[in-house]
Amino acid sequence: MFESLEMTHPDPILTLSEHFMNDTNPRKVDLGIGLYKDKYGDTPVMESVRIAESFVVDSAMDKIYKGSSGLDGFCDVISWLLFRERSSLIENGRVLSIQTIGGTGAVRLAAEFLKQIDPDKGVWVSDPTWGNHIDIFLHLGMKVSCYPYQSGGGGLNFPIMLESIRKIPEGDVIILHGCGHNPTGYDLSKCQWHAVLEVVKERGLFPVIDMAYHGLANGLCDDIYCVELFSDHLDEMFVAYSCSKNFGLYRDRVGALVVLGKNRDSCVKAKLHLSRLARVSISSPAIHGALIVSEILSSPELNRVWVEELSRMSLRVKFARGMLIKEACKQGCDDAFRNVSNGVGLFSLIPVGREDVDVLREEFCIYMLDSGRINLSGVNDDNVGYIVSSIKALLGK
Ligand code: LMR
Repeated sequence: MFESLEMTHPDPILTLSEHFMNDTNPRKVDLGIGLYKDKYGDTPVMESVRIAESFVVDSAMDKIYKGSSGLDGFCDVISWLLFRERSSLIENGRVLSIQTIGGTGAVRLAAEFLKQIDPDKGVWVSDPTWGNHIDIFLHLGMKVSCYPYQSGGGGLNFPIMLESIRKIPEGDVIILHGCGHNPTGYDLSKCQWHAVLEVVKERGLFPVIDMAYHGLANGLCDDIYCVELFSDHLDEMFVAYSCSKNFGLYRDRVGALVVLGKNRDSCVKAKLHLSRLARVSISSPAIHGALIVSEILSSPELNRVWVEELSRMSLRVKFARGMLIKEACKQGCDDAFRNVSNGVGLFSLIPVGREDVDVLREEFCIYMLDSGRINLSGVNDDNVGYIVSSIKALLGK
C-alpha cells in the first residue's frame, strides 16, 4: 500500500532546525526556527517556569486523565490574561477557553470547528504568513486565499491590504496575526486595527487571531490591543494562543483556543463542540505544561517574575534588531536590512533569493528560512559582524 504514496516534503522549519543541530561547524548561526535565544544563543528554561515546574512535580498526587478541554484552571488563567481589562466578558460567560496542543493545535482545532460549521467557508491569510496556517486549512480541504500584506519585499502595504479585505466574500474566515507578524515583523498600528475592524464588521468576517508571540513584540498590554478592540465590537471570534515562546514551553506543547461568543449559551455550545473535536483527535491534552502556566499566572510572585523575564526577553530582541541595523550601516549594506528597522518581535524578511539562502546555509553555515525570514534573537555580539559580512558578500556577488 505504501508504495502507492506520492513523495511529500518534510516540514521546512522543523527540518531546518534539525540540520542546524547536526551542523558541526563552530561558526554556525541559527536564524531559523522561531524560538527565543539569549545573547549566548541559548534558550534556557525561564526562572518562573523552573520554580513553577518544581512545585508542580513535588505536589503531584496523580496523573489521571483530564477532560478533552484540558485543565480548567489553565483555561481560566488564559482567558483572564487576554481579557483582564474586559472582565465582564468573562463574568457574562462570553469568553471561554479550551486547552490545545500549543498554538498550532489551537489553529487546527479552530479549523476543524469552522469546517464543521461550513466546509465551503473560504479562509484568508496574509501574504506572506506562517506556512502552517495555509497547510492546516488546506489539509482539511478548505479553500485558502491570500490578502496582500507586504509590498514587493518592502514595507507593510496597508491600503492594498484593506482594499483586498474589503473584497473578501461575506462570512469568510480571516486569519490575523495579533502581534509580531510572522514572518514580516510588521504589526498594524492601533489606527490600522480600527480600520480592519470596520471592514471585518462590514463583511461579517470571522476573525481568528493568532497570538503566538504575546509579550515579545510591544509588551503584554499593547500586544493584545486587537483582541481587546475586536471583543468590544464583535459578537464572535477565536484567539489561537500559544505559550511556547512567552513561557519558553516549546516542547511541552501548551496553548489554548479562546472563544468569544454572543452569549453564555452559545459559548458553552461552542466549547462542547470543540471538546468533542478534541476527543476524536487527541482525546485530552497533556497537562504538565498547563499546570506550570496556571501556577505562574495564578501566583502574584511568580507572575511578577515571569513578567520581568518576558520584558527582558522582548528588550533583548529589540536590542538585537538595533545591533543588526547598526552593523549593516557600519558595513555599508543597510539596504539589505531595511525591513529589519521597521519591524517588531522575532522576525524580519531580508531580500535574499531561495538560492542565496542555500548558499548562506551551505557555505556560511547561516540558517534562515527559504523566504529569507530571520529570527532576530539569533543575532548576538559574537555573530552580528559575520552575519552582515556574509550576506553582504553574497549579495555583492
Ligand atoms: C516558527 O514559525 O518558526 C515557529 O512558529 C515554529 C513552528 O512551529 O513553525
